[in-house]
Amino acid sequence: MFKKDFPYFQNSQIIYLDNGATTQKPKSVIDSQVEYYEKYCSNTHRSNFGHANKATQEFENTRVILKDFINASSKEEIIFTKGVTESINFIASSFAANFKTVIISSLEHHSNIVPWHMQGRSLGNGLEVVNCNDNLDFDMKHFEQLLKANPHSFVSVTHISNAFGKIHDIEAITKLAHSYGAVVLIDGAQSLAHMKVDMQYFDCDFFAISGHKTFAPTGVGAIYVKEKHLKELKPYQTGGATIHEVDFNSSTLLDSPYKFEAGTQNIAGVIGFGKALEYIDKIGYENIEAIENSVYTYLNEQLSTLPDIIFYNDISDSIGSRSFNFKGIVHDDIGILVDKMKIALRVGHHCAQPIMKKLGVKGTIRVSTAFYNNFKDVDALIVALKKALDMLKD
Ligand SMILES: Cc1ncc(COP(=O)(O)O)c(C=O)c1O
Repeated sequence: MFKKDFPYFQNSQIIYLDNGATTQKPKSVIDSQVEYYEKYCSNTHRSNFGHANKATQEFENTRVILKDFINASSKEEIIFTKGVTESINFIASSFAANFKTVIISSLEHHSNIVPWHMQGRSLGNGLEVVNCNDNLDFDMKHFEQLLKANPHSFVSVTHISNAFGKIHDIEAITKLAHSYGAVVLIDGAQSLAHMKVDMQYFDCDFFAISGHKTFAPTGVGAIYVKEKHLKELKPYQTGGATIHEVDFNSSTLLDSPYKFEAGTQNIAGVIGFGKALEYIDKIGYENIEAIENSVYTYLNEQLSTLPDIIFYNDISDSIGSRSFNFKGIVHDDIGILVDKMKIALRVGHHCAQPIMKKLGVKGTIRVSTAFYNNFKDVDALIVALKKALDMLKD
């Protein structure tokens, strides 16, 4: 029903089920890119001629849209980045570097693991990992033990696992962490495409956002920073557009958010991000969540009919991604075969090697849906998987 809004689906016969990697872009987003480059291409916050002002206005408009979208308290709390990877690297290096302990979950993406390693942390040496049970649920008891043993730590956990679709209870995690004096960053890379997020309700200190996983262009994202941390937060890059006054002895910086956005930004990307959020608003999260839940449930039911399928979690508290393997079959082989049948899904470790190792697998087959996917897509996937399994069993 919504595929008509996405030119990709008019130009391609592919059944796109790799939304965890990136989402398709609606026409309004694509048009905004062409319009910027064809009609008012100019830098922001610098020049004062007519369409340069329009570029600045449109760019800043996205900040306001995003602020309202996630229910932040002010637009100063919204800092644009390249995406979640840059958002986490920024906070890791500038705010969290001196915390004695960083606590992450077992389901983290490499983007929320490697930045901590780069600070010389390893398991038990500045880095702690919350266990999960056999259904990949976050172990609150273990979390509390870690918080008790390491008060005032930095907690950095994903909202939704990209590999397994597991949703963490952010409100509960944040509440518990705060009661032990911890500061909380949430990796929201997989969140906005699937569900409403609310900074007042979550009450987290930082929330990392990916544009390209939210129907916006690649190379754009943001970090929400709770107002009370803005003064303490140091930029991790500086230069043009961040300064108030410079001489050869010293520089004084602008206030947030500008002091954190050094150099020319991804202007078209940020403008497109605003259009993507407006598009989501038009569809409405009530609709998005209802469609996604029904397609995700149907996907699970249909996959469950396939012989020798192995799941790693049930679908409780999960959305978007469904990961599985087939007994005796190499996941890469399935990827190669279904690709020939025009099914786009992802096979591999999904940038989550530690949890794959814990499960004793090299990788999985991951189907990841968005609200434009439908039952027909699932039916086509099942036909392709059956064919692939038949070929591999011969
Ligand atoms: C959970 C999670 N965190 C972080 C990232 C990195 O996000 P970005 O591509 O916006 O840097 C991804 C991307 O796959 C992800 O799924």
